Amino acid sequence: MHLSSVLALLLPLSGVVVSGKAVTNEKRQVYGVTSKYCSTASGNVPALCYLQYYVSPTQPTFRIAIPSDASPSQPFDTILQIHSPHANTWAGFSWGGGMTLNPLTVAWPNGNQGQVTVSSRWSSGRTTPGVYSQATLTKLSQSRNSTHWSVEVACKGCSKWTGSYGGALNVNSGTVQQFAWAISRTAVPQPANSAASFPVHNTQGMFSEPLEFAKNARATFNSYVQNKKP
Ligand code: HEM
Ligand SMILES: *[C@@H]1O[C@H](CO)[C@@H](O)[C@H](O)[C@H]1NC(C)=O
Repeated sequence: MHLSSVLALLLPLSGVVVSGKAVTNEKRQVYGVTSKYCSTASGNVPALCYLQYYVSPTQPTFRIAIPSDASPSQPFDTILQIHSPHANTWAGFSWGGGMTLNPLTVAWPNGNQGQVTVSSRWSSGRTTPGVYSQATLTKLSQSRNSTHWSVEVACKGCSKWTGSYGGALNVNSGTVQQFAWAISRTAVPQPANSAASFPVHNTQGMFSEPLEFAKNARATFNSYVQNKKP
C-alpha cells in the first residue's frame, strides 16, 4: 500500500480518537461555549473580566469572576452573573459541578420591574435544595429588558465547602474546574421569598474550564464589589 493510502486510512481513525475523547467526558455535559468576557468601566465601577458560559439563545448565559490572587486553600469571594431569557422561571448555578453537596446559587425574577430574588441553596439529594446559610449573596445588579432578566451577585462562601464531598474552587492555571447549571420553565410560586420552594428543572447541564478567564486583580475585584450597587 502506498504511504498516502495508509495516511488516508489513519486520518479518519485519528478523527475517531478525538471524538472518543469527547465522549468520555461527563455524559450529562451539555456542550456550550466558554470565553473570556470583559465589561467596560463605568464611573467608579471598574471593568471586570469573567469566564462566560453560553449554551444557546434559550438558556441563560452565566459569567463568573474571582480575584486573581485567590488561594485554593482559603475561601475567597466570587461573582456570578446570570442573563436569562424570560421563559426560564429560575436559573441555578452549581459551584462544584453537580446538583448535590456543593453550593448552589439560584435566581428568579420577582415581578416585572426588574427585581430578581437570589437564593443560596444546598442539596444532599435530588430534591428541592434547602437554604444554605454558609454562603451569603450580595446583589450587585438586577435588571430586565424585553427579552431577558439579569442579575449579578457577590458570594461569600461559594468557593469552598465542607461535608463528605467537601471541595473548593481550584484557581491554579490549567486546573479544570467543573460547574453545573439548571433552569425551569414552571413558575416559582412565591417569587418574593428567597427561601421559597421552586419547581424542578426542565434542563440541566455541566461544563468544565480552568478559572483563568475569571481572574481579576484583587483591587479591581474589591472595587467592583464595593462600587457596583443594584
Ligand atoms: C426543586 C428543585 C430540584 C429538584 C426536585 C431536582 C431534581 C433533580 C433530579 C431528580 C435529578 C436527576 C435527573 C437525572 O439523573 O436524570 C437532578 C439532576 C441535576 N440537578 Fe436538580 N433538582 C432541583 C434543583 C436543582 C438546582 C437548583 C440545580 C442547580 C443550581 C440543579 C442541578 C442539577 C444538575 C446539574 C443535575 C445533573 C447532575 C447531578 O445529578 O448532579 N438541580 N435534579
Ligand atoms: C437584554 O438583556 C440581555 C441580557 O443581558 C442582553 O444580552 C440583550 O442584548 C438585551 N437586549 C436589549 C434589547 O437591550
